[in-house]
Amino acid sequence: MYLKTLALINYKNFENQKFDFDPKINCLVGENGVGKTNVLDSIYHLAYGKSYFNPINKQNINHQADFFVIDGMFSKGEKPEQVVVSVKKNQKKIIKRNGKAYDRLREHIGLIPVVIISPADRDLITEGSSNRRKFMDGIISQSNPDYLQALLRYNKALSQRNALLKYFAANQTFNRDNLEIYNAEMFSSGAIIHRERKEFIKAFTPIFKKRYADISNDKEEVNLVYKSQLFDTEWKVLFEENLQKDMILQYSGKGVHRDDLSLKIKDFPVKKYGSQGQQKTFLIALKLAQYDFIKEELSTKPILLLDDIFDKLDEKRVAQLIALVTKDDLGQIFISDTHKERTENVVKASSDSYNMINL
Ligand SMILES: Nc1ncnc2c1ncn2[C@@H]1O[C@H](COP(=O)(O)OP(=O)(O)OP(=O)(O)O)[C@@H](O)[C@H]1O
Ligand SMILES: [Mg+2]
Repeated sequence: MYLKTLALINYKNFENQKFDFDPKINCLVGENGVGKTNVLDSIYHLAYGKSYFNPINKQNINHQADFFVIDGMFSKGEKPEQVVVSVKKNQKKIIKRNGKAYDRLREHIGLIPVVIISPADRDLITEGSSNRRKFMDGIISQSNPDYLQALLRYNKALSQRNALLKYFAANQTFNRDNLEIYNAEMFSSGAIIHRERKEFIKAFTPIFKKRYADISNDKEEVNLVYKSQLFDTEWKVLFEENLQKDMILQYSGKGVHRDDLSLKIKDFPVKKYGSQGQQKTFLIALKLAQYDFIKEELSTKPILLLDDIFDKLDEKRVAQLIALVTKDDLGQIFISDTHKERTENVVKASSDSYNMINL
């Protein structure tokens, strides 16, 4: 599967721009601030219906305009697939596949598998657990629509439960039956989420370890550990024990929304004990494992978006990466870099077919 053409209207710094892409390698080159990352993000948009970098839709609209359109034409097994994402200020985002609008975003997820590697991935290591949950959720959802549905159900019940806790506090009242409605919903959807995350990490960890070993030449032992309150205590007990605290804080403190993924190097957190280089290697290995996993699950090579890749890897590693993706025909890859020659040299070595796009 690959992206053939892309049209951007009022998307961030692009007022009206069209691109024709190579089925294999596309390099976006130009100085800082010309919009290289924005092009990659627009492709991410076509896959996930949202930005990788900025979740606030209207901030992705060009400052001079009140709407944006991202129009992508893909070729999937020789069949054309058009995906259009459009956002108008103060209106709901619309995503269309071949001219027909989706009722729900989740119907679209998985159609266009995309993996992005960007300097912003650093957040996975340095920031809070929500980044790591998002990482797990993003991968599992691509191949498991039931999971995505359970997540949406869970999040809805969670925010309703929190609203109810606030209501109890504001009105100095309590109603167990009302609370139980949301508890039950969180138990049933949360159980699916917990089970699937557990299964996922079990399958994903060996893939990740292999990637890390390949990149680092087997230098050090790494591991991923799924953390969840549900491992220690049963749902009902967990909620019951924490009820008083929930009432005081007016917030649900227990459940899969507190899950985490601990990232370890020699049994220590990579955030505290990993060197800069080890952290970069860790992130690349995580992303490549994501690529392998999705490729396996969906039997399609994802489109790979490499933003500022030389930030993380030297030229030799970048060349290895490109060779890997383009090896047997299917994979398409987008690379952004400020140095045209550097990128072209690396790319030339692995493929006859490539496209340099000067921005
Ligand atoms: N809503 C918006 N409207 C207009 N311009 C925007 C908007 N959002 C971002 N920009 C502009 O987009 C540009 C940044 O684009 P981008 O991050 O893609 O650059 P880049 O080429 O990747 O740069 P670098 O090499 O520094 O990574 C900035 O000039 C910024 O002002
Ligand atoms: Mg950039």
